[in-house]
Amino acid sequence: MERLQKVIAQAGIASRRKAEELIQQGKVKVNGKVVTELGTKVSRHDRIEVEGIQIEKEEPVYFMLYKPTGVISSVKDEKGRKAVTDFFAQIKQRIFPVGRLDYDTSGLLLMTNDGEFANLLMHPKNEIEKVYIAKIKGSLDAAKIRMLERGVMLEDGKTAPAKVKLLGGDRRKETALVEITIHEGRNRQVRRMFEAVGCKVTKLKRERYAFLGLGSLRPGDARALSPHEVKQLRALAAAQTK
Ligand code: URA
Repeated sequence: MERLQKVIAQAGIASRRKAEELIQQGKVKVNGKVVTELGTKVSRHDRIEVEGIQIEKEEPVYFMLYKPTGVISSVKDEKGRKAVTDFFAQIKQRIFPVGRLDYDTSGLLLMTNDGEFANLLMHPKNEIEKVYIAKIKGSLDAAKIRMLERGVMLEDGKTAPAKVKLLGGDRRKETALVEITIHEGRNRQVRRMFEAVGCKVTKLKRERYAFLGLGSLRPGDARALSPHEVKQLRALAAAQTK
């Protein structure tokens, strides 16, 4: 569910503030009834009219992008850097990323124009697993791996238990390739977790998001999610946020 003024603004009819005025002036109807209360929640199934004209709802769309490094996870960047939406120039819907990957992280990023879906997946109670492959510099021994698995103290609190698998490494050079599975989504979490045990992440890729993998996509490629995948993601998130 979204706030009525936001839905009107997102349909490109008016700014958020102007939409609020229109609502207060009794110019907005939801399913045929005038609504004057700001903050009324509506879903995409509600019929909304502004000054007698039904608003055009965007068809919801869902994609996965193999985000390359050197791309910002937002709709637009003031500094003119490449943004994840630039890979969807031919899509007319206004899509945005579900969460974010750092500028220098690559991998699986979901993109949609469905705010309800995005909020559901990003809900803090949500325990959707994300699998990352990290290339690290610094010595990583069994004790440090156990610390990462149990949770490490970061400035925003202790991390939840993680799964850590050493995929390879070079002891002499003090480099390692590690698979780490987390289900929180804090800012720069994987990088900070490794920092907390004295290692530096030199390369980071998100390999999986819940049951979704990158398959044969290459950096910069995207594909639409199937209706079944969208349903599965919704069901997974809904089950966890109850
Ligand atoms: N953890 C990070 O440190 N960076 C990301 O982009 C994602 C998870």
